[in-house]
Amino acid sequence: MDYKNILFEVKDDGVGLLTVNRPKSLNALNPETLDEISDVIDRIEKEQNVKVLVITGAGEKAFIAGADITEFPKMNALQAYIFAEKGQRLFFRLEKLPIPVIACVNGFALGGGCELAMSCDFIYASDKAKFGQPEINLGIIPGFGGTQRLSRLVGRAKAKELCMTGEMISAEEAKAIGLVAKVFPADKLLEETLKIASDLAKKSQIAIRAIKRVIDEGVGMDLRSGCELEANAFAMTFTSEDAREGVAAFLEKRKPSFKGGFSA
Ligand code: COA
Repeated sequence: MDYKNILFEVKDDGVGLLTVNRPKSLNALNPETLDEISDVIDRIEKEQNVKVLVITGAGEKAFIAGADITEFPKMNALQAYIFAEKGQRLFFRLEKLPIPVIACVNGFALGGGCELAMSCDFIYASDKAKFGQPEINLGIIPGFGGTQRLSRLVGRAKAKELCMTGEMISAEEAKAIGLVAKVFPADKLLEETLKIASDLAKKSQIAIRAIKRVIDEGVGMDLRSGCELEANAFAMTFTSEDAREGVAAFLEKRKPSFKGGFSA
């Protein structure tokens, strides 16, 4: 598929960089952009050459300023439902990728942009970034999972406040409420994010997968069942060559070199 709305490259260290590239409309998500991101996910699943995915927005102003509002006047209720489902399906696929996915939020992350960022494993933001669910100001509500993921991330009361007021918050405020993991100066954001992504790509991919699965599946379980899931995954990681290498490297006082294999 030729991309018209995004850029995608895989770097030598196994870090994939996806840039939503519609700066004239502040990288707003139209249906075509959703299809192109979906195609990138297909490729990552099929080719298995990406160890960490970083998602960012083109230009200095926006990460993604939401769903493309110019599409809305054409939609009736059924088409709106189908559009919401399309975005939701895509964000579930992103969330389920068995590799770390980092949102590198370089500016406005509003509506669908905030929702996409929340579907990533964690968010790094520029000190100029702004977050919000401003759909209320259009007389509608979030449709790509915003009410659900925001309440799970920051609690019901804060999520209601943000969705009801449509207020935009700064990166520092977003960090204070647990939405953002780290804030970097704008001119250092991509560099610092790619550095951390590259470090993650060198870790045991088996252990990384296990952490992602156990946290995502366990968070909806009772504590005892979640801990049982963890114990099983803990034991599974012990059978990997990476575990043997990691322990040996520690004892031999050298850096480990993880390959991602199983011994039996
Ligand atoms: N969909 C489509 N186009 C969008 C857009 C969106 N979600 N957000 C911004 N744009 C377009 C603007 O229409 C404008 O296009 P134009 O140059 O052809 O007029 C361009 O991007 C630049 O935006 P502009 O509003 O001029 O920039 P600003 O700095 O004054 O304001 C925002 C920036 C983000 C505060 C403002 O664009 C905004 O409120 N956007 C909508 C956010 C939103 O409601 N998102 C949820 C959608 S469900």
